[in-house]
Amino acid sequence: MRLDVVTIFPEYLEPLNVSLVGKARARGQLNVHVHDLRAWTHDRHNTVDDTPYGGGPGMVMKTEPWGDALDSVLADGYETGSRTPALIVPTPSGRPFTQELAVRLSQHPWLIFTPARYEGIDRRVIDEYATRMPVYEVSIGDYVLAGGEAAVLVITEAVARLLPGVLGNAESHRDDSFAPGAMANLLEGPVYTKPPAWRGREIPEVLLSGHHGRIARWRRDEALRRTTAHRPDLIERCDPAAFDKKDREM
Ligand code: ADE
Repeated sequence: MRLDVVTIFPEYLEPLNVSLVGKARARGQLNVHVHDLRAWTHDRHNTVDDTPYGGGPGMVMKTEPWGDALDSVLADGYETGSRTPALIVPTPSGRPFTQELAVRLSQHPWLIFTPARYEGIDRRVIDEYATRMPVYEVSIGDYVLAGGEAAVLVITEAVARLLPGVLGNAESHRDDSFAPGAMANLLEGPVYTKPPAWRGREIPEVLLSGHHGRIARWRRDEALRRTTAHRPDLIERCDPAAFDKKDREM
């Protein structure tokens, strides 16, 4: 997968060199290009923003640097054999970022991110590129960040771990919170490792029973408990028939 990020803070994307994403890059599973938007400005002050039409507070990012930057990124990608780009626009006004959307984005071979600062990007930029490629306007949560760069890090990490061969153990996203299956829409319950007793706290006995059916049932009960406490809205989306079916298999 190829990733391009156009930003006025390229150094903000340094974490893309670390951990899972960094390793995926080193292995050639991810081909990441971070670009400084100011490289596509032509004035002495490298201006990327201007006052909003219609008045109001804050500044709006200008069409020309974004248009020139995106044309240049697209030309480079096509030249080096990448095809079918999708544009990812992080914005608090976007659709919610979910595991389902992460899966969908992981199926695109080429993602171009446009994290904005200030009040956002002149709408004409998004409308222009929407005529040429799928555009996803994405919010990572109901809060306002100072810019979209942190959202790019979040989205990239969620997408990268879904790419074939990136996670060590192919099974390890099977039980993720929000993964499809009988545990869909349930948050994962608590996990334990050795030693079996620590500061007088023992691990739940069922985990030592070796009884897979009882362990699976316990994990599901804990997941239900945690989901009820933290995300009652998700419980409504659970499918009791899927639980019954699973119980019969245990
Ligand atoms: N930019 C500012 N806030 C954001 C959010 N919540 N999600 C995505 N991009 C953003």
